[in-house]
Amino acid sequence: MIVIIGSGLAGLTAASVASKHDDVTLITKARIADSNTQHAQGGVAAAIAPGDSSELHANDTLAAGHGLCDPEAVRILTEDGAQRIRELIAAGTPFDHDSNGQLSQALEAAHSVPRVLHSGGDATGAAIETAMIERIAHCGIQLLEQTFLSDLVVERGRVTGVRVIASGMETTIAADAVILASGGAGQLYSHTTNPSVATGDGAAAAWRAGATLADCEFFQFHPTSLAMPGNTLVSEAVRGAGAVLLDENGRRFMRDAHPLAELAPRDVVAETIARVMRTQGGRPVFLDATALSDKFSDRFPSIAAACAAWKLDPGKDLLPVTPAAHYWMGGVRTDLDGRTSLPGLYAAGEVACTGVHGANRLASNSLLEALVFGHRAACAARTSVENQHWPRWSATEITDDDDATSLSSTPPTLQEIQAIMWSDVGISRNRLGLKRAEERFRSWLGSFACASIMLGPETSQEAQRISTADLEIRNLVTLGAIITRAAIARTESRGAHRREDYPRLDPNQAHRTNYRNTPYARTDAIPLPLPHAHVGNSR
Ligand code: SIN
Repeated sequence: MIVIIGSGLAGLTAASVASKHDDVTLITKARIADSNTQHAQGGVAAAIAPGDSSELHANDTLAAGHGLCDPEAVRILTEDGAQRIRELIAAGTPFDHDSNGQLSQALEAAHSVPRVLHSGGDATGAAIETAMIERIAHCGIQLLEQTFLSDLVVERGRVTGVRVIASGMETTIAADAVILASGGAGQLYSHTTNPSVATGDGAAAAWRAGATLADCEFFQFHPTSLAMPGNTLVSEAVRGAGAVLLDENGRRFMRDAHPLAELAPRDVVAETIARVMRTQGGRPVFLDATALSDKFSDRFPSIAAACAAWKLDPGKDLLPVTPAAHYWMGGVRTDLDGRTSLPGLYAAGEVACTGVHGANRLASNSLLEALVFGHRAACAARTSVENQHWPRWSATEITDDDDATSLSSTPPTLQEIQAIMWSDVGISRNRLGLKRAEERFRSWLGSFACASIMLGPETSQEAQRISTADLEIRNLVTLGAIITRAAIARTESRGAHRREDYPRLDPNQAHRTNYRNTPYARTDAIPLPLPHAHVGNSR
């Protein structure tokens, strides 16, 4: 049996492919449609237009990645990607067409040609997610919603199952293979475009189990989220359609910052906006899309609706915008087929670090990555495949040491974690802030050592209801600590990692970084029955 954690595009793709050859259980912490994919507006990039090629797409991806992409992973992304998109089109996914009936292909930042497909204008992720949910409904997959991954089960160095919590009780599910597709960790930051489910649960569980994580210091900030509670994403595609950025005095500041102005790479636009905001006392800058006038709501209906909730009409009003945490390039390191350093464990989508994004992800490559590597991980995880070669990478070992000067006795609140990450491990970093954050995280990690939420076999059978909100806090602290340490170690500025004290790119640091925790093994993989729901016909 293959257990898949997460119901965004990577998880649904893996489930659809894996169900052709194995029994599949798909586990998701909320409802099936609650995922980052559901919120993806900008689209999915694929080199399928006549003037385009996978080589061109690969070159753009490599340039955005600032020297840290794995070229082979990028080749696979762009070649397999075109094929996966053709399959989606053939399966009837409703991508937008122009008035001539041709597939619409939009230009987005740092793409050399228009190649971004959309659906429903700015509702691409939601449209693909809906189509995929319908597809897997007929695959005989066991679906467990409202079921939270608490830990991976490791026996003699191999992942043999998962521990999950449903209705406050923990239980164990045995698996021949586990595919993590649990998404990112945007909830680490006060301002994020990610939904509340993005708390890094899969990466943190992999870390505790001893899997290697990579490129953790690279967190992408989207330049334009609505500067209102909830930070609704205002897609890159709005600037692609001609919107411009203005400071409080109405000056188009991006013209001075980069030859491509508003269409400069995402890290450049985000950092420039953050700098301008500092000079104007932290107040947001403005996105001027008024040139689109009445066409705005036709092209971007979801954004128009989100603006209307704040009584803003993008066709007439300037939109206050601020950067927000958007996508974690780091994650569980995988090979080209989703294999992690732990036998039995695969990862795909944002939780994984395949090396396709390097130090900075190219716009609209994330849905493509989920499709391509969700598919490949499911093929590799076939139970009939024998003698798999599990990769090993040398990694810096990190122990959650307890030498902090003041150990906290209580875990932090979500707001405390988000505040320190935003101020000290955010768009611009420096040693002083990073060391301050490191100390706080060490102290918070210490608070979990004695807390009752540390799970183990001795507590699992007791009638103790476990708060998944507490476990999310533990996961965010774990990842915040790793990201902070990785950011301290990289003494240069590259892609999304910007150091005020090391403002230049250092050619000697053009390498990826791996981190590993001292693993602990859990040896109690007992298949226990769980109350569950089925999607469609069971196998
Ligand atoms: C956007 O619509 O700007 C976001 C798309 C992406 O993150 O690739």
